[in-house]
Amino acid sequence: GKVAVLFGGHSAERPVSLMSGAGVLEALRAFGVDAHGFDPAERPLQALKDEGFDRAFIALHGRGGEDGTLQGALEWLGIPYTGSGVTASGVAMDKTMTKRVWAAEGLPTPAYRALSRAELTRERIRAIPDELGLPVVVKPPHEGSSIGITKAMGYSDMQGAVELALGFDDELLFEQCIEGPELTCAVLGEGEAAVALPVVEIRAEAGNYDFENKYHTDTTQYLFGTLPAALEAEVRQLVLRAYHLLGCRGWGRADLMLRKADMKPFLLEMNTSPGMTSHSLVPKAAQAVGIDYPHLCLWLLAQARL
Ligand code: DAL
Ligand code: MG
Repeated sequence: GKVAVLFGGHSAERPVSLMSGAGVLEALRAFGVDAHGFDPAERPLQALKDEGFDRAFIALHGRGGEDGTLQGALEWLGIPYTGSGVTASGVAMDKTMTKRVWAAEGLPTPAYRALSRAELTRERIRAIPDELGLPVVVKPPHEGSSIGITKAMGYSDMQGAVELALGFDDELLFEQCIEGPELTCAVLGEGEAAVALPVVEIRAEAGNYDFENKYHTDTTQYLFGTLPAALEAEVRQLVLRAYHLLGCRGWGRADLMLRKADMKPFLLEMNTSPGMTSHSLVPKAAQAVGIDYPHLCLWLLAQARL
């Protein structure tokens, strides 16, 4: 049947999605799949139904594509789609909600404070480092690709960090900074059949794995097999639990910090529509277990459902 590769969209991660979608489209077409690009920012979703699309591959990132709203619309249209359903997508798009779910179930995630725009007085902002320590990470909870995030090193950085993040969200997440390498771990599948792929350790040249180091630098290192076997197994187990608690399906990628002092992993977030660019992590992890990019795309498409 006819497959729509949904990409573009109107979130701040549009440029990333354009890269993901182009890669997925090319891969599916190489297998002879009747795949067509479709940008929901340019065309009404109803056209998917009118033009006889049978399935949708979601290569959108961020709000309006990864947050459950699109998934809900596809449910209404009756078009099976890749990845998580409405609820898991909605919760995972909100880093604060995600942490609340994980913390309630005893999963390790850095200490945090969530404050709305109205609550963000100078006194409240000043009190945050006293509570969470320094540095502290300031995040707009509904963004991706590190957009709007600042690692505030001192009190003097706080105001600017808050203003930047408020450009993207009306409620901010302040997170205790865990010192150590950043890890990422992808999951493929659903329920009992879900498997965690090998853990990737990220070493970014300029320290932080920010937008620049994610997509525009070729010096960021992605390393497999750096963790002792028992810790590798522990992280994969933790990520699978984190995935199941959110109700994810199809695929996902958890991002974590490994505290250097005691090698304890802390969950940061779950991405339900992970990047599929040439620099992205799920394709690298799949490759490490022998699944190349085109086959990963084909497999994900086969998982599409309502
Ligand atoms: N939000 C980006 C696309 C990622 O997690 O890969
Ligand atoms: Mg993310």
